[in-house]
Amino acid sequence: MFLRIAYVSSLSESMSPESIDRIVEASQARNERQGVTGMLAVDGRRVLQILEGPPEIVSALYERIRGDGRHHEVIEIDRRLIEARHFGSWGMVRRSMVDVVMLAMTL
Ligand SMILES: Cc1cc2nc3c(=O)[nH]c(=O)nc-3n(C[C@H](O)[C@H](O)[C@H](O)COP(=O)(O)O)c2cc1C
Repeated sequence: MFLRIAYVSSLSESMSPESIDRIVEASQARNERQGVTGMLAVDGRRVLQILEGPPEIVSALYERIRGDGRHHEVIEIDRRLIEARHFGSWGMVRRSMVDVVMLAMTL
């Protein structure tokens, strides 16, 4: 079984929307190494991320992300065990938030 967590947050004022690229770059290799897949959607300052992978790894990662001062108002919107991954890798997408929420809720 895999754990999947979806949350929304807002990037901090001090962050330029472009600085999310640095987070994505740093996260890519780390997520791959840890077997974490999913997606990060960014729309202005709003963020929606879906993380899936081994349960202990995903919950520990989420706790780290939750405490990251580069964003705030972190709200978990979904947490569930899934039998199979829905994403083959991890990366950033620029899709509308509505699309991504629908994806998270219906997968
Ligand atoms: C919006 C956002 C999304 C993030 N996504 C990930 C991620 O998918 N994987 C990851 O390893 N770190 C991610 N991070 C960074 C983590 O919060 C943390 O800085 C990183 O895991 C390094 O942790 P450490 O400084 O305790 O070693 C994200 C940070 C933010 C603000």
